Amino acid sequence: MDGNGRWALARRLPRIAGHRAGVESVRRVVKAAPGLTIDVLTLFAFSSDNWRRPRAEVEGLMELLGLYLATETEECVRNGVRLQVIGRRDRLAADVRAAIGRAETATAAGTRLRLRMAVDYSARDAILAAARGLAELSRESLDGALGPPVDLLIRTGGERRLSDFLLWECAYAELVFPRVMWPDFGAEDLASAVRDFRGRERRFGAVPEVPVRLHERWLR
Ligand code: FPP
Repeated sequence: MDGNGRWALARRLPRIAGHRAGVESVRRVVKAAPGLTIDVLTLFAFSSDNWRRPRAEVEGLMELLGLYLATETEECVRNGVRLQVIGRRDRLAADVRAAIGRAETATAAGTRLRLRMAVDYSARDAILAAARGLAELSRESLDGALGPPVDLLIRTGGERRLSDFLLWECAYAELVFPRVMWPDFGAEDLASAVRDFRGRERRFGAVPEVPVRLHERWLR
């Protein structure tokens, strides 16, 4: 969800206004996702490195998160959205932790969309924590301890970086980097990214399917 700050700057608004507008995009995208056959949607709301931002911005983001959880939980329940938060919780304020717990419990039965919010999240820390909790370390056990593999990663705002997001899970993710700033991102942008994804050939390291007739000609 990149570009909130630049969106605000372009309008001579404080950065937090960009984040506030970004919450509207979250609402639009969560609403549109099930209709686009998306069953898991992970949003990067706050990275562990975002603690380095000015205190007022950090506090504003945490407030927006708490507000979102408080106001959207009922809507999630109505729409079959299961909300889960990934990332560290020990550094979050007690009221934010409590709001997360309430939202997760209230939406636990949702089956239309699994909405994962990454908050105080670092993929490297998540991998380390998962590995430390495993009795036997293997590709499969780590797969099981982390989240589902990512099919499509969308980073708005034109930057082309992963920024410590779902590094293990993105092993074979298709990447899309739209230039649109997150507050301007809507259902049509999401649909367009999904169309782009569907047009790609995913080979997972294998070779493309060769038509049999062409293959026979090579053998002659
Ligand atoms: C990156 O844009 C965005 C963030 C660090 C925060 C994203 C948060 C929200 C959309 C609102 C809170 C989330 C929820 C789920 C309620 P940036 O600030 O780095 O933008 P820039 O690259 O233009 O400076």
